[in-house]
Amino acid sequence: MSEFQGKTVLVTGGSRGLGEAVCRRFAAEGCRVIVNYAHGREAAERVASQIGGEAYGCDIADEHAVEAMFDAAGQVDILVNNARIDPYKRTAGMSDGDWWDAVMAVNLKGSYLCGKFALERMKAANWGRMVHISSVWAYWPANERMLSYAAAKSAMHALSRGFASQGAPYGVTSNVLAPGLILTDLLTSRLTPEMLEKELNGIPLRRGATPDEVADSVFRVAESGFMTGEIVNLNGGACLLP
Ligand SMILES: NC(=O)c1ccc[n+]([C@@H]2O[C@H](COP(=O)([O-])OP(=O)(O)OC[C@H]3O[C@@H](n4cnc5c(N)ncnc54)[C@H](OP(=O)(O)O)[C@@H]3O)[C@@H](O)[C@H]2O)c1
Repeated sequence: MSEFQGKTVLVTGGSRGLGEAVCRRFAAEGCRVIVNYAHGREAAERVASQIGGEAYGCDIADEHAVEAMFDAAGQVDILVNNARIDPYKRTAGMSDGDWWDAVMAVNLKGSYLCGKFALERMKAANWGRMVHISSVWAYWPANERMLSYAAAKSAMHALSRGFASQGAPYGVTSNVLAPGLILTDLLTSRLTPEMLEKELNGIPLRRGATPDEVADSVFRVAESGFMTGEIVNLNGGACLLP
């Protein structure tokens, strides 16, 4: 029987894309899965009903809402900090400063808040796993559009190391998984064949990852009880390029 059977995993942004695949991967291990979402209630409820999990709507940038989500969840053994504001979803008329705050509020503060409330529960149980989803953008020099996103992802690495240090005496691990291109439905629908070709040409292995294979790596990271404070890069060699 899997060590993960019966453990509770909370996946932020579990309603679609990588988060959905992560929910399915942990459900296959016999976990109780909490599918967090902010706006896509229908999508989250569909995922939850298919895997026998629970959908929970909560804007992770809202501290009180996050606290209420963790109170409702009871024990949380595994946290996957996956939710993000999509850097291509900036609304017209938003000032640079407001956009910066919005990205940091979800992508960084939200990850911190979920980690903080999760850590309390994991310490009490003397067992826990946190996996924070970062990106190759944590390393790449960012253009104007990606700057706040890249800064938030890079800061998640420091966040994870802090949780690793705080959690270690209690058997709690915290690691980052930093993917490159993931071929989610959203991403493939956004790119023209020419744009996709250009993206793939920048990847030494000449392909993107499927959500399922990234989700499997998330599970593998959580599976190790001896790896903590690390960054696992899964990018087809994208960071090998100059
Ligand atoms: N796709 C890629 O190529 C790629 C590459 C590298 C790294 N990543 C990372 O992988 C992770 C997943 O990426 P993805 O492409 O699957 O993302 P996505 O399709 O943009 O999905 C984002 C998820 O986050 C949720 N979300 C957004 N704002 C939220 C909030 N305030 N509170 C709670 N949930 C919120 C969304 O739910 P609602 O719809 O309900 O708002 C959705 O479920 C992200 O951390 C991303 O940075 C992705």
